[in-house]
Amino acid sequence: MLRMRKFIILLAVGAALVASGDVPEAQQPAQPDAIVVGAGLAGLSAAVEMGRAGLNVLVLDMNSVAGGHAVLAGGVALVGTPLQEKNGVKDSSDAAYKDWMQWTVDADPQWTRFYVENSRAMIYDWVTAMGVEFVRVGGGQANSVPRIHFTKGRSIHLVMPIFKTALAMPNVSFVWNAKAERLVVENGRVQGVTVRHLRTGRTETLRAPHTVLATGGFESDLERVLANWTPSLPRPDRLLIGSAISATGSGHDMAVEAGAALSRIDRHYIYIDGLADPRDSQRIHALTGGNSRAIWVNAQGRRFTNENGFDKTILVDLLQQEPSSYWAVFDEAARENFGVRGAAWVQTPMDVHPILDNPDAAHKADTLEALAAKAKLPAAQLRETIARFNGMIEKGVDTDFGRFRGGQKPPTMIAKPPFYAVQFFPMTRKNMGGVAIDLQARVLNRAGQPVPGLFASGEITGSVGINGSHGMDGAFLGPAILTGRLAGRTIAELRRVTSSRDLSQAPAGRILSDATPSATLPSRTAADLQPLLAKPRDGFWHFEVSHKTVVERKYECTLCHTAQLPFAPITTTTQREAQTQVCFNCHDR
Ligand SMILES: Cc1cc2nc3c(=O)[nH]c(=O)nc-3n(C[C@H](O)[C@H](O)[C@H](O)COP(=O)(O)OP(=O)(O)OC[C@H]3O[C@@H](n4cnc5c(N)ncnc54)[C@H](O)[C@@H]3O)c2cc1C
Ligand code: HEC
Ligand code: HEC
Repeated sequence: MLRMRKFIILLAVGAALVASGDVPEAQQPAQPDAIVVGAGLAGLSAAVEMGRAGLNVLVLDMNSVAGGHAVLAGGVALVGTPLQEKNGVKDSSDAAYKDWMQWTVDADPQWTRFYVENSRAMIYDWVTAMGVEFVRVGGGQANSVPRIHFTKGRSIHLVMPIFKTALAMPNVSFVWNAKAERLVVENGRVQGVTVRHLRTGRTETLRAPHTVLATGGFESDLERVLANWTPSLPRPDRLLIGSAISATGSGHDMAVEAGAALSRIDRHYIYIDGLADPRDSQRIHALTGGNSRAIWVNAQGRRFTNENGFDKTILVDLLQQEPSSYWAVFDEAARENFGVRGAAWVQTPMDVHPILDNPDAAHKADTLEALAAKAKLPAAQLRETIARFNGMIEKGVDTDFGRFRGGQKPPTMIAKPPFYAVQFFPMTRKNMGGVAIDLQARVLNRAGQPVPGLFASGEITGSVGINGSHGMDGAFLGPAILTGRLAGRTIAELRRVTSSRDLSQAPAGRILSDATPSATLPSRTAADLQPLLAKPRDGFWHFEVSHKTVVERKYECTLCHTAQLPFAPITTTTQREAQTQVCFNCHDR
């Protein structure tokens, strides 16, 4: 009997999935004024800007949910804001310009100047008016005063208010699970885009006089990163992936095919704290993690850098090691200081830790000799390195790498068994170069001329080169908003000039497919998810990662699902709005 009931439920879930296909939440406007490819921070900012100017906008995304990388990100660098003032921070665009040009070495001076002068009005004021609340401002490696603005939790609190603003606009429509594959170029002008609906395989050509590429970077394509490796840096022996499955450069390819130039394409923000995700059978996807109380040793068992130094310095030190990897070594007393980031990891238990207590992910032993044997490190050297480090703690000065010196509180000694060794690798994260645009976010060709009909914003542009040769904290989210707005503004301006249509009229073409959600929610359990999660399906990536987390954490379905949010793909904007309320269960920290 029970089995029968389950079977019927499965059928119902399955039928809902098949029947739904790629239902757009709103009927697509017959003639959008602009298509935005990518519903990350940049694409959403462009959509809001154009939506407010009265344009009909169609936003597509290959994912089933909005936000892109910003969902997982931290803070945004802003200059001369009320929050800084409130915290007694004296800042000016000149001071920021000076700090940033110095840190980055060779950032684009024009964009850097534009950013430091406009971040307050174009980012801070704009997003706070939409309900974003910045709660704290912090320092960053490149900054002489605190400039990194944080919302509570992660920057999902920055991107969701922008998404909700776009969602509330009747002239902005979204199509999910739709991957843009090629730009339509006719008569020397970009006229739209060909998309593949991932859940059904159907392809379709969508047309508009203006197209904004906001597809993000390509840091998940390791081959592409290595083919465009920074010439001045040694090449890593092993590099892990630190960004999302969408970040493969599909937007770059489309732009280049339409004639776009690339600039600074060999600049990457490579992180130094990648840890191979033990849940990834291929061990190429990284988690970021670390322990502030660890020492880092190379394959020879020696320290090689100041673990607390600037990451741009550490990166060079790390890439010079053979192989370019290190082991973070610490003791039981420092166990609780070990941290892992990522939505699936925020509630990592300390009692049976999925990394520290997992022999496939970390080494743990009662003596340093046993630890060295497990990690294949030279035992005598490891013992000597730790003895030396403990000795320097006693004297109060790190005479080798300057991690601590007289007058500072030294770290604690590495002495209490069991001991841990966790291996780290360099990891890709952010592009600092990309599709060339001008200050109006028009894509430029190799002759420096605009490609008609084509715009780009966000990380696809390499965050407009303001990170130069060395990435800065918070200097990616900000450019995504800024360049998204610029693209939107330019298109709105062009539309105003060329369109005979009265844009003050209520925008046409939005018919909601607002089916009333069923009043009651059938009961479901984790077992119902099994067949849906059994093997990866195209267009279901986020459903799969999120519901694996649901199963792992033993969440009740009703924690998120209600009559408003049934066990089915979203078909209405009302449901989509309701859905944004449940994201924080996993993306808050
Ligand atoms: C873990 C992490 C932490 C970070 N922390 C910070 C931070 O603290 N501060 C900071 O400033 N920056 C940070 N960044 C970088 C920052 O988040 C990104 O640079 C920024 O969010 C990029 O926004 P975007 O809209 O340009 O691109 P993305 O966020 O990458 O969005 C691109 C969107 O386009 C979609 N897409 C891609 N290709 C296609 C296609 N062909 N067809 C249809 N849709 C497509 C994707 O699904 C995605 O939704 C972090 C990045 C990561 C990964
Ligand atoms: C913590 C919040 C949360 C919980 C708990 C949760 N879900 Fe979901 N569910 C979501 C979100 C968010 C989506 C949209 C996911 C997406 O499109 O990527 C969703 C979507 C779905 C879908 C539709 C997928 C599609 O075809 O687009 C099904 C089916 C589903 N959930 C089943 C379940 C079942 C069964 C449970 C309980 C075992 C459950 N969910 C528990 C948040 C949750
Ligand atoms: C039940 C947990 C859960 C819920 C609820 C959830 N997510 Fe996620 N989401 C994840 C996991 C796990 C990942 C994979 C990334 C990671 O491990 O950090 C992810 C990844 C993402 C990504 C890709 C990030 C990138 O790097 O580009 C986006 C965008 C995203 N989620 C948006 C949302 C939105 C919007 C909602 C609410 C509608 C939501 N998520 C709800 C668990 C969840």
